[in-house]
Amino acid sequence: MYARKKSWYHALLLAVCWVLPAVAAAADSAGPTPEMLEKIRKANEECFSCHSQAGVQHPPKEGMDLKKLAGLTKDPEAFKGSDHQRLACTKCHNEGYDEHPHAAGAKDATSTCSDCHSKKADRVEKQFEKSVHAKNLADKFTCTTCHNPHVMRIAEKLGDPSKIVQQDNRVCLSCHDSDEKFAKFAPEKKSRPLIDDIHEWLPNTRLHWKAVRCVECHTPAVGAGEPLSHEIVNKDKAEKKCVACHTGNSALKTRLYRHLVKDEQQKYGFVNSVVLANSYVIGATRNPTVDTLMIGLAALTLLGVLAHAALRILMAYLRRRTK
Ligand code: HEC
Ligand code: HEC
Ligand code: HEC
Ligand code: HEC
Ligand code: HEC
Ligand code: HEC
Ligand code: HEC
Repeated sequence: MYARKKSWYHALLLAVCWVLPAVAAAADSAGPTPEMLEKIRKANEECFSCHSQAGVQHPPKEGMDLKKLAGLTKDPEAFKGSDHQRLACTKCHNEGYDEHPHAAGAKDATSTCSDCHSKKADRVEKQFEKSVHAKNLADKFTCTTCHNPHVMRIAEKLGDPSKIVQQDNRVCLSCHDSDEKFAKFAPEKKSRPLIDDIHEWLPNTRLHWKAVRCVECHTPAVGAGEPLSHEIVNKDKAEKKCVACHTGNSALKTRLYRHLVKDEQQKYGFVNSVVLANSYVIGATRNPTVDTLMIGLAALTLLGVLAHAALRILMAYLRRRTK
């Protein structure tokens, strides 16, 4: 009798242990309620009342160092579109910012990425440590060197490839296309190698910078469905083969276009229309009409060459006859 009671008790205990974390997780993934979001928005507006262009122009308080404040503005619109739009500023800027002047040393208590993203950061850190930047610029280069937490938006949420390319390449080009910023990070290097010179083997580099990301060629391949690696590789390991992208089975399907491909596959069960719809990636476009047209053109060209040759032989023969 006692044994049965105990097992019943155990079952209940087990059930509670299973259910409680599930409830907590559900609450977590549901995110903040509309009331909480409204409270967060109001609190953030408080910060923006100083930390925005409008704040610098119409400061809510007298006697502030406006020149300094002008260098510390954030764009409220950009923040609204960022990954962290639903966070209170004070989630990352911890104690000491509710009052102004802010508490001395408040900056030291700013949360780091791994405080909130420990699992992702674990994976990313291992890759980042092998990257050219972590190796060559050890202490100067951190997550926030590339990630502006007030602005950046994950590719999956941006959706549009041209927006993804623009956002992610802006990060790389902000140094690799700027003498001033590059020198700040590598003062010992006499001059910055020009980005178009380094890639002179690539036709129309500026068009490629708008159509594909640097990380498409400068990170090692990963399995399907996995996020891109953070291991930025140097010239020996970078992708130089045109057919990696300009082919029916373009690498871009598992990289830049992967989020679209997922939708597309669910909708139509095939994927090349994604590549076709977003840009005319020569070779990757398997459109039957275009293919027939191309084959037709090639056949015509061949015919033209043959006719030309035949004509020349005939002319030579006639010339010899008339002599
Ligand atoms: C009344 C205006 C005002 C408000 C409101 C305000 N700040 Fe500031 N903040 C400043 C000024 C001015 C500075 C420049 C340095 C200083 O005077 O402390 C500054 C500096 C900062 C810095 C840079 C600190 C450093 O040491 O580099 C951060 C981060 C910051 N504020 C965050 C916040 C956050 C988060 C909020 C909202 C919770 C907020 N501020 C609200 C005026 C304000
Ligand atoms: C997800 C975390 C996070 C959130 C949310 C966040 N910040 Fe920041 N913020 C940071 C980090 C990290 C830095 C330091 C960046 C660096 O090292 O370059 C920073 C820097 C700043 C600075 C210092 C100046 C600068 O440009 O480097 C100001 C001012 C600031 N944040 C204001 C805000 C305001 C206002 C909000 C809310 C609208 C906000 N932050 C929300 C993480 C955050
Ligand atoms: C205070 C906690 C906190 C800090 C610190 C923080 N984040 Fe976040 N981050 C969040 C939350 C919450 C979300 C939003 C999740 C959602 O809305 O679905 C998020 C979303 C993201 C996303 C997109 C969502 C995804 O699936 O990955 C990225 C990327 C990201 N953060 C990167 C960073 C980086 C890089 C840093 C350091 C500069 C950072 N975060 C610091 C809390 C934080
Ligand atoms: C050299 C620039 C660079 C550095 C340094 C960097 N990132 Fe990223 N990160 C990117 C780019 C570009 C993407 C967009 C890739 C994508 O979404 O396809 C990204 C995406 C992410 C994502 C979302 C996709 C994923 O992998 O889950 C997270 C989370 C992230 N970074 C965290 C970090 C953390 C943590 C660090 C520091 C250890 C860091 N990043 C350092 C450039 C950088
Ligand atoms: C904050 C500035 C900065 C950003 C942002 C940045 N880089 Fe760099 N990068 C440098 C500097 C400086 C070097 C030179 C390091 C050295 O060799 O001393 C470098 C080196 C490199 C190298 C290797 C060059 C060599 O000589 O071995 C590659 C490849 C590279 N970066 C690609 C990228 C890509 C791709 C991105 C964007 C995801 C990026 N970088 C973002 C500053 C930056
Ligand atoms: C189409 C693929 C591709 C794209 C896109 C690409 N790169 Fe490269 N990159 C390479 C290859 C391949 C090399 C090596 C060239 C060589 O061996 O001459 C290289 C070389 C470099 C180097 C010099 C590395 C060294 O060790 O000397 C840097 C820095 C660099 N790239 C940065 C970038 C940045 C920043 C972007 C984005 C604006 C970018 N790359 C886009 C393929 C690419
Ligand atoms: C990382 C992927 C990638 C690699 C590698 C790559 N390309 Fe491209 N390329 C693209 C994309 C995407 C476009 C589409 C641009 C657009 O929207 O029209 C493009 C466009 C082009 C164009 C059309 C330019 C124009 O003026 O219209 C040519 C030519 C081209 N690539 C040649 C090459 C050659 C040659 C190589 C190898 C040396 C190469 N590409 C490597 C992705 C790539």
